[in-house]
Amino acid sequence: MKNHSTKLTVLKVLSDGAFHSGEALGTRIGISRAAVSKHIQGIQQWGLDIYRVQGKGYQLAQPLNMLDADYLQNQVSNPVELFPVIDSTNQYMLDRISTLSSGAVCLAEHQEQGRGRRGRKWVSSFGTNLYLSMYWRLEAGVAAAMGLSLIVGVAIVEAIEQLGIEGVKLKWPNDVYYQDKKLAGILVEMSGQTGGAANLVIGMGMNLSMRDRDNEIDQPFTTLSEVIGNDHFDRNQLAVAFIQAWDRALHHYEQVGMQDFVERWNRTDNFINRPVKLIMGQKIVTGIARGIDDHGGIRIETEHGMETYIGGEISLRSNE
Ligand code: ATP
Ligand code: BTN
Repeated sequence: MKNHSTKLTVLKVLSDGAFHSGEALGTRIGISRAAVSKHIQGIQQWGLDIYRVQGKGYQLAQPLNMLDADYLQNQVSNPVELFPVIDSTNQYMLDRISTLSSGAVCLAEHQEQGRGRRGRKWVSSFGTNLYLSMYWRLEAGVAAAMGLSLIVGVAIVEAIEQLGIEGVKLKWPNDVYYQDKKLAGILVEMSGQTGGAANLVIGMGMNLSMRDRDNEIDQPFTTLSEVIGNDHFDRNQLAVAFIQAWDRALHHYEQVGMQDFVERWNRTDNFINRPVKLIMGQKIVTGIARGIDDHGGIRIETEHGMETYIGGEISLRSNE
């Protein structure tokens, strides 16, 4: 992993929200003004907005509420690892499965190669979102793995509701939505099996206060700040709420399977009773979405009757 310590020191100084001249920053850190400027550019490439005002210096465009590894570890029983910068929290865990215990989590402030389904890029700005992965050893095996993005989705929406935030919904099979815009995405990846158990890494990227980056994101998206209309939330508390909710939901899923989650999913399904299309390679199925079935498949009422679809290569889109 690359050494980012100078950039992180620059950020720490800037995190007080005040202006700092290049010269003062350089003196404080023990580097030249030119080096400060180079590191500022590097931080900007992490997706953080930094202003430069002639005669005043550099200032962060918005205050930083950084994740705190000690706080997180004190709040949850799951082993926690936190990185300022990583390629991908999912990849980090996949590479180390044999050293991890089920329920271990990994978080990062920024991902250089955050990814979504089918290898698509997940925009991962520094310090303004959540990137959270959990390793889970699923005793029920591969057949039960398909349900995981649904279980975790339900856990995310319910955890958000418990914070008093209403209106967040789910899009089958792996997205969290608000007013038809993507708030978070879930990515479940498998690293293989030990005995009959499947080794899975479940990752979530949730936008919290990321500034407009629509030149990089080719679909409507939103942030938690937009959902609640302010920035008054604590990223550490949110991370704890999600870790605890996932852990509970995954244990429950191991014990009772999908059945308990069907109704909970359907209650918050963004597209239920709305016209949709399912895209499966060249094939497109249109109809009215009717929620999920007992196996986690999506039910579509088509002109030929009720049809159910399940599998990783299916994309659901509105057809209104
Ligand atoms: P599908 O329904 O096939 O899963 P999707 O559009 O949700 O389609 P994913 O692979 O699940 O696609 O997610 C990756 C997509 O999400 C990217 O192609 C990009 O458009 C979008 N995206 C990337 N970063 C973000 C982000 N931080 N917030 C919201 N959307 C993002
Ligand atoms: C999607 O909508 O396609 C899923 C996006 C999942 C993004 C998260 S961020 C944490 C974890 N690490 C990754 O590289 N991806 C997932």
